[in-house]
Order: sequence, then structure tokens, then C-alpha cells
Amino acid sequence: MRTAAVILAAGQGTRMKSSTPKVLHTVAGTPMVAFGVEAARQVTGEPPVLVVGHGADRVRSALGDRSRYALQAEQLGTGHAVLQARELLEGQADVVLVFYADMPLIRSETLQALLHTRQAGGAAIALLSVIPDEARAFGRVIRGPGGEVLAIIEDHECTPEQKGIRELNAGFYAFDGAWVWGALARLPLSRKGEYYLTDLVALASADGRRVEAIPCEDPAEVLGINTRVDLAEAERFMRQRINTAWMLAGVTLADPATTYIDASVSIGRDTTILPGCHLVGRTTIGEGCRIGPEATIEDCEIADGCRVTLSVLESAVMEEGSNIGPFSHLRTGARLGRGAHVGNYGELKNSTLGPGGKMGHFSYLGDAQLGENVNIGAGTITCNFDGVRKHKTVIEDDVFIGSDTMLVAPVHIGQGAKTGAGSVVTHDIPAGAVAYGVPARVRSTPAPHEPGATKE
Ligand code: UD1
Ligand code: CA
Repeated sequence: MRTAAVILAAGQGTRMKSSTPKVLHTVAGTPMVAFGVEAARQVTGEPPVLVVGHGADRVRSALGDRSRYALQAEQLGTGHAVLQARELLEGQADVVLVFYADMPLIRSETLQALLHTRQAGGAAIALLSVIPDEARAFGRVIRGPGGEVLAIIEDHECTPEQKGIRELNAGFYAFDGAWVWGALARLPLSRKGEYYLTDLVALASADGRRVEAIPCEDPAEVLGINTRVDLAEAERFMRQRINTAWMLAGVTLADPATTYIDASVSIGRDTTILPGCHLVGRTTIGEGCRIGPEATIEDCEIADGCRVTLSVLESAVMEEGSNIGPFSHLRTGARLGRGAHVGNYGELKNSTLGPGGKMGHFSYLGDAQLGENVNIGAGTITCNFDGVRKHKTVIEDDVFIGSDTMLVAPVHIGQGAKTGAGSVVTHDIPAGAVAYGVPARVRSTPAPHEPGATKE
């Protein structure tokens, strides 16, 4: 039995008051439409057909080949929207799953249950209903005396009596693929001048076909996003779900209420996340790390056993057992080697502090490549920018950079060399040499048996 999915995303989302199409607003760092697309792919095994209209190009470029696309040039209603997928899907699928792109909290298990219900009863339509505690402007599920589903009446078309019905249409449908396309073409025009997908229910009853409605257990799953208030609420539920999943997977969250983890992040077992952390984008964190309190980490790769305290990391790599913070900043292209240490007020950009390296106090490395076991004294700066161009600093293994050294790039410091406190280094320093002063001069070179001597 082949199941295809159609997701409606052509509407403007006027109530978001935004120049961004509603379905591209993000929840847990991911465009909301991507959650439905992924859930649909999980249950059907193939990319769904996304009906696009407003901002079609932007939606297409955000999702790429994760989806197929049908264009609804004019938004004439949800029924009309589904009809735009007819060409792609008629005769191709025994069952057609349809839902709206503005409900990112739906779980694939719920979609699966809906498909089972339709299949078991041979219904023309199985739909998901919801009985929420608070009022929602959803369509009402109208049942007959025997409990059979007769129709869905939109909120604004309800009689006062119908308004009181608590079972609402959540907006997820499994249709008999042999029936649905012909039925869509028979939809009446509503008073509002739209073709309502929900009017298929009355059509099915008229055709003598069964309609099943199964209530969704968790009303949060079918929270529809229409305004930014809804968006914030969806964010809160999604965050709870993500945090719970990580805790069950072996990650300690000291305070889930102040822990923000994007849907795209991964975290290893026995890692502890302390309060106030934001883990963003394509970040991966290994096992046994201690992150936080108060860390913002975006698009970073953090290996096992690392520590990040009160720091901001962007597009950076931390190798095993390295640590940073408090109050430090790794910028794009920063890399801390195995066991390397950055203390307070350190900044690295496009630079590697090699394995075992130490940079304890208020220093800046830009466009610098450092070897193993380099010590960067307090207040050291790579002067990498001459006002026009950026230049590189290379520091080889076992170098000791004295406090307050200015390394005026381009400059190369040979293995085992040392600089004295307050040096301004404008020329390369050979391996094993000691240099100091302003500008720094080489004051002594190693005896023949000392490290680096062979490089002379
Ligand atoms: C719809 C249902 C309502 C249900 C509610 C649940 C209909 C007529 N009503 O109402 O019974 O309780 O969802 O949230 O279906 N869209 C298009 N093309 C269009 C119109 C809409 O693609 O021409 C898309 C929108 O982008 C949106 C989705 O369909 O993602 C739902 O449209 P919306 O106008 O929000 O429907 P509701 O009024 O919420
Ligand atoms: Ca809606």
C-alpha cells in the first residue's frame, strides 16, 4: 500500500506580520515546515508534496529536495490547495495523508495511528480531532446520533449551538486515494469564496462512505501557529520535548527551563549542561563534557571530556579534553587541540591553539597556527591586521610567549623559542632563541644540544 503525503504551505500567514513566509519562521532553530516534512517522510518513506504559494521560492530553497512541490498560484482555500497535488499524485497512491505546515509539533507516531485507523475501517477519511482545555478557533466535528462523523463546520460558520462542541478538527487527514481526487473536484464554494478541505467530510457522508475521527491524546501536538504568540508557545513545547529526549538519552540538564537546544544539535552521554546554555545549529557535543553555566555554542564540534564555562563559541572545534572560560570567545575557524586550555577573556579567530596549549588570561589569537604545548602569556596579542590585510602568525611547538607580547604578523616563532614580557615582535624568531624588547631582538640562541639548535 503506497501512501503519499501533501502538506499545505501556500498561505501568507498574515497574522505573523512578517516579510518571512510563516512556515519559514523557526522553532528550535529549524523552519517550522521542516518538522512536518520530516514526519511525513518517516511514515511514507518518501518526500511529501508541499503546496507552496506565498514565498514559494524561499520555501523551495529552504527545503530543497527534502520535498516535492506543487504551486498554488492563488490561495482559494485548503481544498483547492490539495487539488494542486493531483497531477503529481493521482493514481500514484492508495492513501493520501494531508496536513498543514503550521503545526510543527506533530509526531510521526500520531500520523501512523491515523493511517492505521483509516486502513482498519476502510474509511474514505480518517481525521485527527482534539479536545483542548482552552477555546480554539478550529472547525467543529459534527457527529450524528450514533457517533458517526457527519461534517466539519468552520468556526466562523458555526451556529451558537455548534460553537459549544468541544471536539475540534486538528487538521490531519488520511484519505482513500481512489476517492479523494474526484471528491476534491466536487467541493462546493464556501460563503467566504474558498474551497474548504473540511467540506470533504460532508461529501463522504453523502457518498455513503465512512469517516473516522480519532482524538489526539496530547493537544500540544496540534498547536497551530498563526501569530508570534503561538510561535513562542510552540517553541516552549518543542524545547521541553527536545530536553526530555536528551535527558532520557543520558544527558544531565541541571535546569531544563533555562536550557535551549536546537533540534539539529547532538549531545553525548554523561555530558552535563548547566543552566543558561544555548546550543545552536549544527553543534555536536561529545560524552562526559561539562557545558555552562551560561554558554552559547553555535555550529561547533566539541569532543569528549571538554569544559565550556560562561563563554561564546561560534563555528569552532574543541578537541578531546580541552576547556575554555569563563568569559572567552571562540570565533569562526578557532580550534583548541587535545587538552588545550583557554582561561578568561581569551579570543581566538581562525586560529589553532595546538594540543596542550595554554592561554590563560586576556589574549587574542587571530590567523595564528600554534603547535603543541605552546604557552601564551597574559595579554598576548597577534597583531594580524595592518589596516588593509590580514597576516598569519606561526608558532611552533614548545614556544613560551611572555606576558604582554605583541606578535606583529606576518611572523614565525621557531620551536622552543621564548619571548620576554612586553616584547613587540616584528621579525621571525629562530628555534630555541630568546627574544625581548621593543622591537624584540634575539638576545640568546640555544647551545648546540638544546632543542631547536639543529634548526639553526
Ligand atoms: C483549518 C481547517 C480547520 C482546522 C484548522 C486547524 C479548513 C477550511 N479549515 O483552518 O477546520 O480546525 O485548520 O488548524 O481547512 N493554505 C493553503 N492554501 C490556501 C489556504 C490555506 O496552502 O488556499 C494553507 C495555509 O498555508 C496553512 C493551512 O493551509 O498552512 C491552513 O490554512 P488556514 O487558513 O490557517 O486554516 P485554518 O483557518 O487554520
Ligand atoms: Ca491555521
